[in-house]
Amino acid sequence: MQIKKISRALGELTVPGDKSISHRGVMLGALADGVTRIEGFLSGADCLSTIDCFRKMSIEIDVNGSSVTVHGRGIHGLRRPPEMLYAGNSGTTTRLLCGILAGQDFDSAITGDASICNRPMKRVTEPLSRMGAQIRGEYCPLYITGSRLHGIEYKMPVASAQVKTAVLLAGLYAEGETIIHEVEKSRDHTELMLGAMGADLEVSGLDIRLTPSEKLNPQHIIVPGDISSAAFFMVLGAIMPNSEITIRNVGINPTRTGIIDVFKAMGADIKTENERTSAGEPAADITVSSSDLKGTVIGGELIPRLIDELPVIAVAALFADGETVIKDAQELKVKETDRIHAVVNEFSKCGADIEETDDGMIIRGGRTLHGADFCTYGDHRMAMSLTVLAQLLDGESTLDDEKCVEISYPRFFEDFYSLGK
Ligand code: S3P
Repeated sequence: MQIKKISRALGELTVPGDKSISHRGVMLGALADGVTRIEGFLSGADCLSTIDCFRKMSIEIDVNGSSVTVHGRGIHGLRRPPEMLYAGNSGTTTRLLCGILAGQDFDSAITGDASICNRPMKRVTEPLSRMGAQIRGEYCPLYITGSRLHGIEYKMPVASAQVKTAVLLAGLYAEGETIIHEVEKSRDHTELMLGAMGADLEVSGLDIRLTPSEKLNPQHIIVPGDISSAAFFMVLGAIMPNSEITIRNVGINPTRTGIIDVFKAMGADIKTENERTSAGEPAADITVSSSDLKGTVIGGELIPRLIDELPVIAVAALFADGETVIKDAQELKVKETDRIHAVVNEFSKCGADIEETDDGMIIRGGRTLHGADFCTYGDHRMAMSLTVLAQLLDGESTLDDEKCVEISYPRFFEDFYSLGK
């Protein structure tokens, strides 16, 4: 596809619901006693994979656009799936489900697409096996023998909300307490939702303690817009001349707002307004206008707070004055694709001064860049980042596969081009 270019970006929009919260709404809703209603659900391919898996375990789920009703059957209400569960491209579905499946009284198996079959699962199977889980495989397909679990005290080696959540979900089925110590704070949507559903959970800084409970209470969940999707428009608004974009109702949970901190450090013209909170999840309107950006250093505890936004933050760095260093971001190598390699490879095609490092990249901004034929590696966030990048390149650019945006943002291109009108 040829990437159409706009000359300025003006206007306002709402982005689809948060992917992490949408997944958790279905999963925890399925385990609650009664009907959970989710509004603002992200009907992207990843979250639909989660719905599909739970339907296969006899959970009735009605989908009506972005309104979803989950007829929960209680913590012990899942039924043996008649066939292997299929998580598509979704790491969240695969890893979180491992935590739930480990403690069932039935056996199951789960797999996904080619990308999922290359993503490391040992990070979840290892702590789960310490809890008594029996899971065969380090890569998908994984074969899970339902087992009796016991709580553990687990010091996490990586900052990963997926690993943390898998252990917490298994903890619901375990005998005794489960205690987790995080290395750095990762997104805490699971803790917030479990707490709202009445689970016996205590969070203190980087420590989480869960006592299994027999019952979760169904909820009315209102999902805010996904800051990871808003990120594309935040960068677009900052780098395009004569532009101003307002993104309404974006989730600004502090475990997710690293991009706002980085924008401020880069000198971006950014405002958050109309802050409000729904079921513990804060949201606001974010406005970003054309900015003179400067390079910055991104590392340490910031990384888990902006891990999914790094490809598009790298786009902003190309148009910033000076050097941007992204470090401590090895996790990028095990996302939908190796995002360090993919970003460096693709950005180099248009003449960018960008260098791959062991744990990130170094980008020197300010060059005049030219159009190129870009590859997405089947990665939704690469496709959207490259579409933003193409806007400021001299000449035309193409994308080899634009359909992958369906994973997290099916109406991305419509929303994007509405801003150029
Ligand atoms: C997610 C956690 C993050 C993130 C992913 C969604 C989640 O992964 O990259 O897109 O919903 O828990 P890790 O927890 O593995 O870093």
